[in-house]
Amino acid sequence: MPSRQTTSGVDLLVPEGTGGPRQRIEGAIREAITSGRLTPRAALPSTRALARDLGVARSTVVDAYAQLSAEGWITGARGSGTTVADGSEHAPPPPPATSDVTSRRFDFTPGRPDVSAFPRSGWLGALRRALREAPGAVFDYGDVRGHPELRDQVAAYVGRVRGARVHPDHLVITAGFGEALSLAGRVLAATTRGAQLAMEDPCLAHHRAIAAATGLGLVPVTVDGEGARVEQLEGSGAAGILLTPAHQQPIGVSLSASRRGWVLDWARRTGALVVEDDYDSEFRFDRSPLGALQGRAPDVVAYVGTVSKTLAPGVRLGWIAMPPDLVDAAAAQKEATGGQHGVLDQLALTEMIRSGAYDRHVRRMRLRYRGRRDVLLQMLAERAPAVQVSGIEAGLQALVELPEGGPTPEEVTAAAAARDVSLHTVTEHHWHVEGGMPPSIIVGYGTPAEHVYREALQALLATFRDVGLVVA
Ligand SMILES: Cc1ncc(COP(=O)(O)O)c(C=O)c1O
Repeated sequence: MPSRQTTSGVDLLVPEGTGGPRQRIEGAIREAITSGRLTPRAALPSTRALARDLGVARSTVVDAYAQLSAEGWITGARGSGTTVADGSEHAPPPPPATSDVTSRRFDFTPGRPDVSAFPRSGWLGALRRALREAPGAVFDYGDVRGHPELRDQVAAYVGRVRGARVHPDHLVITAGFGEALSLAGRVLAATTRGAQLAMEDPCLAHHRAIAAATGLGLVPVTVDGEGARVEQLEGSGAAGILLTPAHQQPIGVSLSASRRGWVLDWARRTGALVVEDDYDSEFRFDRSPLGALQGRAPDVVAYVGTVSKTLAPGVRLGWIAMPPDLVDAAAAQKEATGGQHGVLDQLALTEMIRSGAYDRHVRRMRLRYRGRRDVLLQMLAERAPAVQVSGIEAGLQALVELPEGGPTPEEVTAAAAARDVSLHTVTEHHWHVEGGMPPSIIVGYGTPAEHVYREALQALLATFRDVGLVVA
């Protein structure tokens, strides 16, 4: 999207930069209101005119206006005559751009586990035991890579369940995948001037923002039924690629065997780094899990895991296993960006893994999520046979492709909102380059609390009925 002033009557100065076009339009309008450039009751351009000016889809502007209207900045969205709301200069600050936290009754936001299932008593018991037994030295400043016993446990765990080949000394404990990506990006940016990181297109906009903040340029690599089209890396000059080989986010395919071989060969030939995001591999339902890419090439793959799906994202714990020659650089970056992770959570997780409580929790949740997925699939097959569901072998979400001539994804999400259901389109948040994908929504079936899941599915079905997707 070009950075330019609009010709549609008001000066919005929609910037280039990170985040999708919708977020940038929203940000520009909020900024214009808070800075006083747009005053209460000032008219905004029509969605059609603004979309034309900015060279974006009209639905992008419609969505931005709908969000701003929901936040109280503007009134009259979705029709002619949208204006800045009275009192909007005092409107509360918007939620952070990366937050998808919803207050809707039924939440199918993708990428979330059922946080109400967090194993509170297991965690408490693990922490209590660990505190009883830990020597006083653990409360001192420790190894910047993380608590050594946690690194021992994680190295053994990822070897056992994912076939990764990890030495504990090569691990850095992080605040989830997000910090691991930031570390890997900073290592690449520090070692290769002007480095570029290739990323899947689509992928999470939030991850693009983290990578861009490390100073790396971003190179999109498209995705098809065999995963990322890694052959696009040939001649790209990229110093690395971020991949979700086990379960592409958001399309749900896994990287084919031939592409796995190709990308490892490319990394060896060019000295590039493959960053493997293994974010939801514990939840594979139908076939036995594909081993981690890292297990085949620990010298060129940085392997990243997280407890955000297995336990809860709020725990903020993850790990990155670096190729041996990059461990010191990663530790130095960790030090430079604030140092070691808090030891209490590390002690509790160490004890959870050591005692087997972590595996038991994962097994219990895998069964539960598989049950949820099966009920969802059965319901859609029986009641909404025109939609096509994919990406369901693993993870906590299903990609639902809408039939040709049916409702648009935006119509479905709007109908969902009217029923207090939070649903997301696949175009939101995901694209480097917009388009290129059949109209789809993503149903995050892991998110609702267990006791409301059936009710949430009924609300989803009612939504589908509202937009004509349900057969009698
Ligand atoms: C592709 C992908 N990677 C990683 C994560 C987990 O990130 P974090 O560990 O920073 O919570 C998610 C969560 O939604 C994700 O979708």
